[in-house]
Amino acid sequence: MNIAIVGTGYVGLVTGTCFAEMGTNVTCVDIDTKKIDKLNNGIMPIYEPGLEELVKKNIREGRLHFTTDLTSVLDKVEIVFSAVGTPPDEDGSADLHYVLDVARTFGQKINRYTLLVTKSTVPVGTAQKVKAAIREELEKRGVNIPFDVASNPEFLKEGAAIKDFMNPDRVVVGVDTQQARTLMERLYKPFLLNGFPILFMDVSSAEMTKYAANAMLATRISFMNDIANLCERIGANVDMVRKGMGTDDRIGSRFLYAGCGYGGSCFPKDVKALCHTGRKNGYPMRVIEAVEAVNENQKEIVADKLKEALGADLNGKVIALWGLAFKPETDDMREAPALVIIDKLLEAGATVRAFDPIAMDEARRKIGNKIMYCNNIYEAAEGADAIALATEWKQFRLPDWNTVRKTMRGNLIVDGRNIYDQNELADKGFRYTRIGKKL
Ligand code: UGA
Repeated sequence: MNIAIVGTGYVGLVTGTCFAEMGTNVTCVDIDTKKIDKLNNGIMPIYEPGLEELVKKNIREGRLHFTTDLTSVLDKVEIVFSAVGTPPDEDGSADLHYVLDVARTFGQKINRYTLLVTKSTVPVGTAQKVKAAIREELEKRGVNIPFDVASNPEFLKEGAAIKDFMNPDRVVVGVDTQQARTLMERLYKPFLLNGFPILFMDVSSAEMTKYAANAMLATRISFMNDIANLCERIGANVDMVRKGMGTDDRIGSRFLYAGCGYGGSCFPKDVKALCHTGRKNGYPMRVIEAVEAVNENQKEIVADKLKEALGADLNGKVIALWGLAFKPETDDMREAPALVIIDKLLEAGATVRAFDPIAMDEARRKIGNKIMYCNNIYEAAEGADAIALATEWKQFRLPDWNTVRKTMRGNLIVDGRNIYDQNELADKGFRYTRIGKKL
C-alpha cells in the first residue's frame, strides 16, 4: 500500500514513520525544504525518543521517503493524510488555513479515487469544509473524480509518541462510505492483527472524540489543581486524596497529578478551540471554560509562592529554575508553565538561573538572554535564594541535596510538580513548599 503524509511536524512525522515500520510505503511531504533535506539525511526536526532510529531504519529499508512535492506523489498513493498544523487564531478558534490548502492541492491534482484523511486536530464540521474545497477545485478543472474525506484523530503523547502509535488504546476512524472504511481497514490491518480495537464512526463524531478526550484529560488536571489548592487551605494532603480517589475503578489513577498547570501544544489549544466552538454554537461550555481559567491561574502559583516566601519585590533575589519544557522527555516549550513563571519572576526583579536537560536551545530561541542558562541543576542552584521546579525530569528526582544546600544562598524549594519528600528536605535544612501545601 502507498500513502502520503502531508506535514512533517510532530504528528505527521511519527505517523508516517510508524506506518512505514508496519510495512506501508510512505512518502512524507512538507513545504519546508530545509526540513525535508535534513530528514533525508536522518536529522530530526524534533526530539522524540526512538524516532531517529526508526526514521533511519525505514529510509534504509526503502519504505520511507521525504519530498517537498505533493503533486508528484498524488498519482502513486491511495490515501493522503493531512497532518498540517492548526494553530489557534486570536479568538482561540483553530486556524484551518493549512488544512484547506492541502484540500485544494488535492482537488487540483488527483486523477483517480483517493482518500483524504485528516489527522490534524480540527473542529467538528471541518470535513465538510474540506470536501467543499476539493469539490470546488474539481469543478474548476471540469472533472468528476471520486474521492472521500475521513477523520483519524491521533492520541499520541509527546515523549511517548512511538509507543503510543504502535500500541494504541484504540484507533478512531470517522468515515462516510464503505470504500473509505475498507481502505482504512487495510491500512490498519497490522494493528487489528495485534489486537488493538478500531472504532469506526461518522466523521463528525470522530472529530468531536479528539476534543472531548483532550478536554476530559485537561479537566482532570484542573480539577485536581483546584482540589490541591483547597487542600492547602484546609490542611489536607492532596497526594493521599489522589490515591484515595484514583483507586476507585470508576475514576482511575492517571492524569490526577496536581502541578503548576498543563502546557504543550494540545491541551491549551484544544480546550480554547472547544470553548470557541461552544460559544459559536450558542452553547458556552461552562465546565471547559472553567478548566481553562483554573489552568491560567495555576501557571502563576509557583511564582506566587516564591513571592509569598521571599517578598513581593524580588530585586536582588536569585531563583534557580529546574525544568523548562512543558513536560519531561520533550524539548517543547509551547505554553509551558515555566514561561509564565519566568515572566512573573523577571517582572518582580529576580534573576533566573535555568537548566533543562533537553529544552535549552528551544528556551534560548523563545526567551533569549533575559535569563541565565546553566549546565546542570547544581550550577543553577549556585547562589540562589530559592529553587523552583517546573518540570519533573527523571534526573531531577534524586539530587544530592547536601551539594545543593552548600551551593545555594538561601534554602527555599518550591516544588511545582510535587516530586520531593518534604520530611527528607526538612531534615536537610530546606524550607519546602509544593502544590497543595503551605510552607
Ligand atoms: C496530550 C494527550 O495526552 C494526547 O493523548 C493527545 O494526543 C495530545 O495531547 C494531542 O492532542 O496531540 P501531550 O500534550 O503530549 O498529549 O502531553 P500530556 O502528557 O498529555 O501532558 C500535557 C500536560 O499536562 C503537561 O504539561 C503535563 O505536565 C500536564 N499534566 C499531565 C499534569 O499537570 N498532571 C497530570 O496528571 C498529567
